[in-house]
Amino acid sequence: VGQIDDVQELKKARKTKIPNRFVRDVAERPMLATTPSPLSSSIPVIDLKKLMRGNKEEFHLEILKLSASCEEWGFFQVINHEIDLDLMEKIEKMAMEFFMLPVEEKQKYPMAPGTVQGYGQAFVFSEDQKLDWCNMFALGLVPHSIRNPKLWPNNPPMFSETVETYSREIRKLCEDLLRFIALSLRLNANVFEDMFGESVQAIRMNYYPACPRPDLVLGLSPHSDGSALTVLQQGKGNTVGLHILKNNTWVPVQPVENALVINIGDTIEVLTNGRYKSSEHRAVTHKEKDRLSIVTFYAPSYEVEIGPMQELVDENNPVKYRRYNHGEYSRHYVTNKLQGKKTLDFAK
Ligand code: SIN
Ligand code: FE2
Repeated sequence: VGQIDDVQELKKARKTKIPNRFVRDVAERPMLATTPSPLSSSIPVIDLKKLMRGNKEEFHLEILKLSASCEEWGFFQVINHEIDLDLMEKIEKMAMEFFMLPVEEKQKYPMAPGTVQGYGQAFVFSEDQKLDWCNMFALGLVPHSIRNPKLWPNNPPMFSETVETYSREIRKLCEDLLRFIALSLRLNANVFEDMFGESVQAIRMNYYPACPRPDLVLGLSPHSDGSALTVLQQGKGNTVGLHILKNNTWVPVQPVENALVINIGDTIEVLTNGRYKSSEHRAVTHKEKDRLSIVTFYAPSYEVEIGPMQELVDENNPVKYRRYNHGEYSRHYVTNKLQGKKTLDFAK
């Protein structure tokens, strides 16, 4: 992806014609007019305080809500998550300052093909592949061995430090959520933690500039996540941009103030033998407003073998996925274009 395909540069050039590489074939266009109004639907909201500190009844009800969300949506928003709101504001500010740097400065941290680290567009493998209306900046965080120090910017000055602090906080949230997810499946609270080893963690910032023709492009192609769990922070005051595919309909996610959006990734779908869904989702653009999202991926260590857990398999729920090595899955994921839930065919 050259400078010419950098969507922020396209926006600056104020061209009204969308370059061909971004114009989707008719069948892939977002059909925004037929997408339900954002107010008519809402994904479940989970109150983490009730899970962490609620009385027995509050806890029980919230666990039921959690399991229903993971089964029916594969998505929920979490409130009272204890991530410092100032820190959320700060990471958003850092991300914005980074994306506002001159393109030459950002391209000092280029994303190499087949990797999801650095600045650019991930999952692009051929000249005729359509491009997303999005600029990304991504970093591997944990374990330290996946880090590429050359890709950590020293401008904006507080960027790296903020990413570190934010990541530690989000990691705790992921660990807590996985315990509650285990309990919601009537499993031992620590099953995932025990199985995952030193979990892999990465961050990706997505910047979607306003687009003069949101009906022709996609901000981010439909996909499910290769992670176990994903935590998504949307910029404060952002427009609706995230859509989830539910019963063959794209449902927009209405942002809830200060909430984080959580989704189940392919790994949990496989481990639960399909009981908890890794839902297909996409991002769309807006005619006037830019949008930012900051996404954390939390996944097992690469050595871990993944397959349906025996507690979730019986005569009524026969095995749906094969066993595989998570590192191999991860490589498979980053070396293929985003194409709905197609990457999960690897596990079949
Ligand atoms: C993602 O799926 O990684 C990001 C979607 C969004 O920007 O809301
Ligand atoms: Fe995603």
